[in-house]
Amino acid sequence: MNYEPTPAFARRLDEGDPLHAFRERFALPDDGRGEALVYLCGHSLGLMPRAARGLVLEELEDWARFGVLGHEHARRPWIPYDENLRAGLASLTGARTGEVVAMSSLTVNLHLMLAAFYRPSGARRRILIEAGAFSSDRHAVASQIAWHGLDPGEALVELTPAAGADTISEEAIEAYLEEHGDEVALVLWPGVQFRTGQAFDLVRIVGAAKRAGCVAGVDLAHSIGNMPLALHDIGADFAVWCSYKYLNAGPGAIGGCFVHERHDPPHLAGWWGHEPATRFRMEPEFRAAPGAAGWQISNPPILSAAPLIASLALFEQAGLASLRQKSVALTGYLEYLLDRLAPDVGLITPRAANARGCQLSVRIVGARGRGRRVFDALTAAGVIGDWRDPDVIRLAPIPLYNTFMDVLRGAEALAEALRSQP
Ligand SMILES: Cc1ncc(COP(=O)(O)O)c(C=O)c1O
Repeated sequence: MNYEPTPAFARRLDEGDPLHAFRERFALPDDGRGEALVYLCGHSLGLMPRAARGLVLEELEDWARFGVLGHEHARRPWIPYDENLRAGLASLTGARTGEVVAMSSLTVNLHLMLAAFYRPSGARRRILIEAGAFSSDRHAVASQIAWHGLDPGEALVELTPAAGADTISEEAIEAYLEEHGDEVALVLWPGVQFRTGQAFDLVRIVGAAKRAGCVAGVDLAHSIGNMPLALHDIGADFAVWCSYKYLNAGPGAIGGCFVHERHDPPHLAGWWGHEPATRFRMEPEFRAAPGAAGWQISNPPILSAAPLIASLALFEQAGLASLRQKSVALTGYLEYLLDRLAPDVGLITPRAANARGCQLSVRIVGARGRGRRVFDALTAAGVIGDWRDPDVIRLAPIPLYNTFMDVLRGAEALAEALRSQP
């Protein structure tokens, strides 16, 4: 597309955007003085679908009205509540409906999956992750290794980018697994890397892991609702995610898991994973519900699951393919505008559309401390992105609620911040 750095151009794209009306379905934050913020931070916390309020209120009302009887008599009965979410989650992850479940939260789910799937034995003990992985993922993996009495210093392998590069090529992952795969028990890879915004070709990574005889797990924190996914077909063993980023379900919202249908029954049990028909007999033997539902442990947090219903409905109405098409154009526009700020600004996110999602990660060039000062000036100007030490500003236009005008205003504010912080 031939982009132009003008309000008239951005407005024209917004007017021609078939998804433009979805913006009104979200609450857009302002600066407290009535001035709308330019919100480019949906990779961290998605905005509130307006319908979420009504859904949460309905649950509060039903709790007030029915008490415990709400488990069966609420508008959306609480016992089978996760069924409200399953089709939407399956569609976003490319899974069969029986392979996904909304439950708990991301790192807890990761621990559960690792507890079940990480079975070091003989020479096959390693877990492969990317260098610079999100701290919580690294903590989970390292502590699971230690839990098995092994040394994370030996069994945790963190693949680094080639010298001088910010991102890791799929070839490097494949080469590592070809050479050392028989020492790797489990590969845990992000769909999109949180710091760089790099989207990985999961077909290749899961394929390489499976060829090498490893368990293939995926962290979708930055992928679900951002990129199209095909977890079932690519044969991933498990995946975990949170719902507060691209899924717009609110702070601390219920997370989710995918477990490929070939893995049944579950390894770890709690009453909510029991087959529903006999769960309340409270018998000592555990009979698993089929599929991913059998991995649930506790009854779900209804108040943190309700907003996800609102958000999944918006994804269904908009369609992930159309959202992705808009996302490629929005992020491409941001890239074009950021390139005009070179050499003050360098992108670390890959340039190919299929190697990134919404997010662009920007390195501010200059003396030490300039990046942070520029970021603070940007925030003061009403543009919300986020900062990741030591030197990255992350910005993500979200196709459900951001506009081309937002992208232009964000880039113009960044240009001004760079001028004010030489
Ligand atoms: C990649 C990744 N892993 C783990 C987490 C931690 O998530 P939680 O606090 O929901 O466990 C996050 C949160 O942003 C994340 O981005």
